[in-house]
Amino acid sequence: MNKVYTRLDLLRALPKDGTVAELGVYKGSLSRGIIDICSPKLFYMVDLWEQLNPPWPSYAEQHQNRLNVERDFNKSGIFIVQEDTREFLESHSDGFFDWIYLDSCHRYEHVMSEMIVAESKIKPGGYICGHDYSEKIGRGAIIRAVRDFCKAHNWHVAIVTVSDNFNSFAIQRNHEPGK
Ligand SMILES: C[S@@+](CC[C@H](N)C(=O)[O-])C[C@H]1O[C@@H](n2cnc3c(N)ncnc32)[C@H](O)[C@@H]1O
Repeated sequence: MNKVYTRLDLLRALPKDGTVAELGVYKGSLSRGIIDICSPKLFYMVDLWEQLNPPWPSYAEQHQNRLNVERDFNKSGIFIVQEDTREFLESHSDGFFDWIYLDSCHRYEHVMSEMIVAESKIKPGGYICGHDYSEKIGRGAIIRAVRDFCKAHNWHVAIVTVSDNFNSFAIQRNHEPGK
């Protein structure tokens, strides 16, 4: 497992010029790092914003966040998608993404279901990444979901960040013998 310091260092270790999705965008602060560091060919920014039930932190704030994101990220190759993360993933063909970054709902069942839907959508050698890989958040729900997913689906933790209490992870499929 490769340990890096911040999530921007994690972005530096990920494939460039790829097809990428950030699931859970909020104000778009990580999105800016993804664009600057990874220069994705196609970048999907997915969030329900004010349509989340209930919206977090509030309807008015998330409505404004979406309008700001639509204004600030209005560029060719960038797609701003107001949709549930799992429905978004399901609507794409297998092997579509080089990598995705999960940062929406942090409950065990939700993250697990995102990874299960994402598995077939990631190209060979690609990554599922995500935020809040920490014992201090949701009693370690994301650490447990990642561990259980990797064990059940034959993936491994390839990269983790170690700078703070909101660390990130990147997981990859295990190579099958003879392939
Ligand atoms: C922690 S914030 C994302 C932060 C952002 N990735 C960053 O680093 O700046 C979580 C976001 O996920 C969104 N969200 C939560 N559950 C969702 C779901 N099921 N589908 C789509 N978006 C969701 C929320 O609306 C919220 O804006």
